[in-house]
Amino acid sequence: MEIELQSGAETSRIIRPAELADIPAMLRLINGYAAQAIMLPRTELELCEGLREFLVAIDNGELIGCGALHFYTLHMAELRSLAVSPNHTRSGAGQRLVRELLEQARQYGIDIVFLFTYVPGFFLKLGFQEVDRAALPLKTWKDCLRCPHFQACDEIAMAYLLTPGAEIYMSAQPPTPEEIALEGSPLLPILSQPRILDKS
Ligand SMILES: CC(C)(COP(=O)(O)OP(=O)(O)OC[C@H]1O[C@@H](n2cnc3c(N)ncnc32)[C@H](O)[C@@H]1OP(=O)(O)O)[C@@H](O)C(=O)NCCC(=O)NCCS
Repeated sequence: MEIELQSGAETSRIIRPAELADIPAMLRLINGYAAQAIMLPRTELELCEGLREFLVAIDNGELIGCGALHFYTLHMAELRSLAVSPNHTRSGAGQRLVRELLEQARQYGIDIVFLFTYVPGFFLKLGFQEVDRAALPLKTWKDCLRCPHFQACDEIAMAYLLTPGAEIYMSAQPPTPEEIALEGSPLLPILSQPRILDKS
């Protein structure tokens, strides 16, 4: 799959699935923003394990953006690790990555794509809406444990409904067998707490 970002003089800009050789540039991009505490850091191992979830944006052979779609339930997937290089923002690459990831989600039969973000305005323009984070799968919270904002989370939860009526999948759900299996582990009491713990 290779999709032209723009026509004419800009045909060198494409969106395509990530390749192993892209990982060093993806790490620089994601962890550059993570150093500013606006994204979660990713390791080389995580990117290798999750590589097939990623699309990348390429401009004249240079990796300028990336984003991933991570499945959580039969109905819900998270859009994550979306980043465009600071030198190439506001040129449409971010929107194009999101649209292609939404299209992938549609093809897989996903009903809701959700995310956590500090830039809700960007996602509002793409049709996402703000949602109650408590309605999202408990499993998503495991990422929060290593987030620098865990004790004072101010990220906004947003969702894009691919199927009319998909709100039903966001209502409080019983824990999955995997979550029940966590009972007794130190994770469960932490994950059961509200994410916004202390804003002072
Ligand atoms: C957020 C981000 C992915 C946007 O990528 P981008 O390539 O600059 O976005 P685009 O050029 O496709 O944006 C197009 C539209 O989004 C809007 N937009 C872009 N960044 C925005 C922001 N931070 N806040 C509000 N709107 C924004 C633009 O105004 C533009 O709207 P318009 O077409 O109506 O003029 C990029 O700025 C980035 O990597 N930020 C740092 C990491 C981050 O926050 N990632 C999101 C994690 S959830």
